[in-house]
Amino acid sequence: MNVSDAVDTRMSCRAFTDQPVDGAVVRRLLEKASRAPSGGNVQPWRIYALTGQPLQGLVDKIDAGIRTNPMGTPTEYDIYPKGLTAPYRDYRYKVGEDMYGLLGIPREDKVARLGQLAQNFKFFGAPVGLFMYLDRQMGPPQWSDAGMFLQTIMLLAREEGLHTCAQEAWAMWYPEVAAHVGAPDNEILFCGMALGYKDENAPINQLSAERASVDDFTTFQGF
Ligand SMILES: Cc1cc2nc3c(=O)[nH]c(=O)nc-3n(C[C@H](O)[C@H](O)[C@H](O)COP(=O)(O)O)c2cc1C
Repeated sequence: MNVSDAVDTRMSCRAFTDQPVDGAVVRRLLEKASRAPSGGNVQPWRIYALTGQPLQGLVDKIDAGIRTNPMGTPTEYDIYPKGLTAPYRDYRYKVGEDMYGLLGIPREDKVARLGQLAQNFKFFGAPVGLFMYLDRQMGPPQWSDAGMFLQTIMLLAREEGLHTCAQEAWAMWYPEVAAHVGAPDNEILFCGMALGYKDENAPINQLSAERASVDDFTTFQGF
């Protein structure tokens, strides 16, 4: 698989089969992804990788928590800027509507929408869940480095026949995740990532998120 194929076939997979992922594969992915660049080679990422009972135990805890508190805890960082403006707000709205449209969930059906949100906290059925933390001293440049690490994992996963979904939604349950994985107080949860084999028959995996055109986001100068 060449890089373009990996980029083209990566998508946010929101339904996985229960086929397990070998621990050696997960280790290989993380080892290779550690070649991702970071300013000053600071390598700010801290990863907790879960499968089997450690993963299921967390899923069960959050499942119980959702029953009394469907939205978890207010997040430690703004997942989206407050008052997000156009065009970004429109992109966000469109992908959400496209996703719920595929699932046949209308806007006013809040219960069904919450039910879909809750799928995040089962890692969409994936057998492996990763959590990305950063030391709290890190700022925007290091969070950007962490993003490159995440994307490198996601592209390498394609080479292994695997799919992924990055999941900021886990930030809604940061106290429970930290207690479960044993993350120290000096680390902040950025996001989770589901990792596994794609359920090819799941309608939600047909979602193809649109992109703005190059001319919408690039100012070419001197070409
Ligand atoms: C850092 C990050 C966090 C994300 N968090 C979530 C999430 O919590 N739940 C979810 O369903 N998708 C999540 N996504 C997936 C985005 O919605 C998705 O990348 C975007 O709509 C583009 O679609 P694509 O990845 O299929 O190309 C996240 C993506 C990134 C990069």
